Amino acid sequence: MSERSDRFAGIRQEILEGMEKRVESRAAAFELRKQFLDSKTGKIGQMMKEMKNIAPEERASFGKSVNELKEWAQQKFAELDEKMKAKELRLRYELEKIDVTMPAEERETGNLHPVTQIRNQLMDIFVGMGFEVAQTREIEKDYYNFEALNIPKDHPARDMQDTFYLSPEFLLATQTSAAQIHTMEKKKPPIKIVAAPGKVFRSDDDATHSPMFHQMEGLVVDKKITLCDLKGMLDLFVKKIFGEETTTRLRPSYFPFTEPSVEVDVSCYACGGKGCKLCKGTGWIELLGAGIVNNKVLENCGIDSEQYSGLAFGIGLDRTAMLKYGIGNVKLLFESDLRVLSQINDN
Ligand code: PHE
Repeated sequence: MSERSDRFAGIRQEILEGMEKRVESRAAAFELRKQFLDSKTGKIGQMMKEMKNIAPEERASFGKSVNELKEWAQQKFAELDEKMKAKELRLRYELEKIDVTMPAEERETGNLHPVTQIRNQLMDIFVGMGFEVAQTREIEKDYYNFEALNIPKDHPARDMQDTFYLSPEFLLATQTSAAQIHTMEKKKPPIKIVAAPGKVFRSDDDATHSPMFHQMEGLVVDKKITLCDLKGMLDLFVKKIFGEETTTRLRPSYFPFTEPSVEVDVSCYACGGKGCKLCKGTGWIELLGAGIVNNKVLENCGIDSEQYSGLAFGIGLDRTAMLKYGIGNVKLLFESDLRVLSQINDN
């Protein structure tokens, strides 16, 4: 009898010691539990099987003791499991702790590209004057880029723009003026659009020319549109971009799709017109090409030139960005040098 109770006490002892020494996690607690309580392999489980070898008169008391031991062990392991659960939760909280008072890691934010900033500013200004925004295309048909703009195949003006041809029919747009034709084919007057994003390509490469650059095309077609409308709009535009004191002047020029054609200069915003390095002593800076839409172009699009007239202008966005932000070399716009880009935050 006492041998048996020693054995029971021994197992209790073993469980308590095992719990104390080896158990650091719920998984370990579960393993230890199996060693005692697994119905087939556990020490207490096996004691149940001994029943049949026990003398019948002792069987009841043995069974009772095993049951008591079993219940006690179950209780102990349940407590241990709770303890381990709490411990693991504490550890997890510790690991996942966030100190909200810690200073945040600083992240540098980028700016929009200077050309994008200029494009946005221009769109805002022209939308403010009632213009709608149309899309330009990077790939055009010869017809839209040249032919319909009154630049036939053998026209010398084709030499003004060294073209990247993709095939005899398709080319990389050399100017955004094709947007005039696309617009007038779809829409009848009154028309008042600026076209973007304006990516254009010419085989041209030096400090002030990049083979890919950006323009924004403007087109107004209505009854009695004259150069005065153009001048009035552009005056407003340069004041908003270069400052209230600036103004424009028109010089005669030539484009096959406008008649008359003009080159628009802005008064030098650096010296106020007195003459300086930026304006090369002239007091004026060349800004864009424009003119009154050639009647032939209107007729090409099925618009009655007796009834309607139009004005068009093409603004170089890269050039405007370089002028506004004092960038001397067009390459700086495309090198993505953060020292340059981070200085220009104008939106
Ligand atoms: N497309 C001309 C150029 O690229 C600019 C322009 C546009 C001139 C509209 C007149 C009218 O130089």
